[in-house]
Amino acid sequence: MAGLLAAAIVVFVPIGMAGWHLTRNRLLFFGAAFFITLAILVHVMPYIPSVLAVLSLHPRSIATGLDPQSTFLKSNGCFSHLHSINWEKLHLSPNVMENRSQLSAARWSWIPRKGCNFQIISRSDSLQLLKGARIIVAGDSQARFFFVSFLELLTGNVEEIKLKLFKYHSNYDYTIHKQQIKVDYVWASYTSDITRLLLELHTNKTYPDIIIMGAGLWHMLHVANASSYGYSLQRLRRTVFSLSRVASFSEHVILGGTEVIENSAIPRFFWLNMPTLIPSLLNSELKRQRMTTNATALYAKELLKSALTYPKGPCFMIDLEILSQGCGPNCTLDGMHYDYVMYNVAVQILMNFLLMSS
Ligand SMILES: *[C@@H]1O[C@H](CO)[C@@H](O)[C@H](O)[C@H]1NC(C)=O
Ligand SMILES: *[C@@H]1O[C@H](CO)[C@@H](O)[C@H](O)[C@H]1NC(C)=O
Ligand SMILES: *[C@@H]1O[C@H](CO)[C@@H](O)[C@H](O)[C@H]1NC(C)=O
Ligand SMILES: *[C@@H]1O[C@H](CO)[C@@H](O)[C@H](O)[C@H]1NC(C)=O
Ligand SMILES: *[C@@H]1O[C@H](CO)[C@@H](O)[C@H](O)[C@H]1NC(C)=O
Repeated sequence: MAGLLAAAIVVFVPIGMAGWHLTRNRLLFFGAAFFITLAILVHVMPYIPSVLAVLSLHPRSIATGLDPQSTFLKSNGCFSHLHSINWEKLHLSPNVMENRSQLSAARWSWIPRKGCNFQIISRSDSLQLLKGARIIVAGDSQARFFFVSFLELLTGNVEEIKLKLFKYHSNYDYTIHKQQIKVDYVWASYTSDITRLLLELHTNKTYPDIIIMGAGLWHMLHVANASSYGYSLQRLRRTVFSLSRVASFSEHVILGGTEVIENSAIPRFFWLNMPTLIPSLLNSELKRQRMTTNATALYAKELLKSALTYPKGPCFMIDLEILSQGCGPNCTLDGMHYDYVMYNVAVQILMNFLLMSS
């Protein structure tokens, strides 16, 4: 089509002009100029979509691990206030062990920030926002609690799922057919299990849209070696980087129009750090011995050093340490797992992040 149009213009426009007041030389000149311009346009055209694709990748790249130095998160100061939460002090009666429902009574809200419109995102808005997305939550029991809270937001009914999930360390996948949302939970005791999962996704070329990861408590309890935890985080960081590069390349190719690869949207990576531990509430001797305030500080230092999370790394951290500290010691019965209200806040932080970056 473009070729025919070009030919028509090259032939007819100069002829038309010649009919009026152009010399033969000028006619030749204009004809050649038209032809060259059109030839260049025709050849450049196929590249325009991919140039656009490269440009449009930029704003999202921080959440995806492409360019940790990107100004995307910095340019919107609201991201750094996502964890500024007001918690109402939670008072528990002594028989709380028999009645956990009191725990969920904790009330919270965002500390109002000028220009930041944080909001509790409803089920219908969440389903709309995540339409067609594939989401993977991978990690230890903290990630599992997060997953249950997340599913509760999306489906409203998780009692059956809780029974299945908590009986043993099993995986779980759930599909919301109407909105085509697929949510997977993958049990991963250690960071190295998460790394293995990412490599498997890479081998399978099934790149999810959102990956929420978190592990550390098992390592602290069973390995009790902060520097080895640090190494495992660095390995994970390298894997996340290479996965996000490959995935973004796939999208680039699709927009260029030459190849179609399924599920090739860029994954967004999130990291759940360890919650504040309350040593006096821990329920075994080994836990009280190993999961000390000192050990927790060493593990947190390794996370910082590994640069897995923003601003130096590819993952946005959902800070369970801050959230659990805010909810307070009355929010936990065993000193390491908190009431769902804390994970609900974490889920709302994720949803607000996605809304702000979409
Ligand atoms: C926890 O609950 C007890 C009993 O109501 C209360 O005395 C205490 O101040 C609460 N602690 C916090 C940190 O809210
Ligand atoms: C648990 O606590 C809630 C609120 O404090 C109360 O309404 C409910 O009756 C209690 N349930 C039991 C079994 O004690
Ligand atoms: C990768 O593909 C294999 C074979 O189809 C499947 O068994 C496995 O669960 C897949 N892994 C992931 C992480 O999707
Ligand atoms: C801790 O892990 C590091 C790195 O894997 C290792 O070099 C060191 O020997 C370990 N320390 C102990 C006490 O096992
Ligand atoms: C905790 O760390 C501090 C400072 O590094 C040290 O002085 C203290 O002895 C440690 N406590 C325990 C119980 O190891």
